[in-house]
Amino acid sequence: MPQKSKYYTKTAQWLHWIMAIIFIAAWLIGFYSGNFLSYAADGSFKGDVITLHKNIASVIIFLVIIRIFWRYTHPAPELPDTMSPLMKTLAHLGHLGLYFMLLALPISGCLFSWSAGHPVPVLYLFEIPRMIQDNPDLTDIVKPVHIYLSWAAGLLLVGHILAALKHHFIDKDNVLRSMTRQSD
Ligand code: HEM
Repeated sequence: MPQKSKYYTKTAQWLHWIMAIIFIAAWLIGFYSGNFLSYAADGSFKGDVITLHKNIASVIIFLVIIRIFWRYTHPAPELPDTMSPLMKTLAHLGHLGLYFMLLALPISGCLFSWSAGHPVPVLYLFEIPRMIQDNPDLTDIVKPVHIYLSWAAGLLLVGHILAALKHHFIDKDNVLRSMTRQSD
C-alpha cells in the first residue's frame, strides 16, 4: 500500500468532483420532475425531463464502481488531529452513507424504470440491458424507496457540504484542500 498523503490522488479528486456535479444535477432534475411536473399538465415535457434524469444519473453506476476500487487501493488522507474521535466517527459514517446512496439510488432507479416497463439509457448513447421484466408490484415498492432515499441523500449531501465549508472557513484545516490540491 502506498504511503498516506495529505491529499487525495488526482484520480480520486476528479472522480469526486465529476460525480458531485452529476449527482447534484440528477438530484435537481429528478426533484423538479417528481414535484413540479405532472403527466396530466405537462405531457411529453415531463417524459423528456425524466429521460434526461435517467441519462445523467445512470453514469453514476459506472463511476461508483471505479471509485470504490480506487478508494480501496488508494487510502484516504487522515482526518486532522484537531477533530474529536466522535467527529471522526461521524465523518466516516457520513462518507459511508454517501457511498451507500451512490449505489442505492441508481439501483433503485433502474429497478423503478425496468419494473414499470421503461429503459435505462446512458448519456443518450446506449441502454443498460434490462435485468428484470415488467412488474407493477415491484414498482410499488421501489418507487417510494427511490424517492425517500433521494430525500435522505439530499440531507446527507447538504450536511457534507456544510461540514466541508466549516472545516475550511471556521476550523481552517486541510480537509477541503485535500480534495482540491496536490502536494507542492
Ligand atoms: C445518483 C443517482 C440518482 C439521484 C440522485 C436521483 C434522484 C432523484 C430525485 C431527487 C427524484 C425525485 C423524488 C421526488 O419525487 O421527490 C427522482 C425521481 C426519479 N428517478 Fe431518480 N435519482 C437517481 C438515479 C436514477 C436512475 C438511475 C433512474 C432510472 C434509470 C432514476 C429514475 C427516476 C424516476 C423514473 C423518477 C420519477 C420522476 C417523476 O416521477 O417525475 N433515478 N430521482
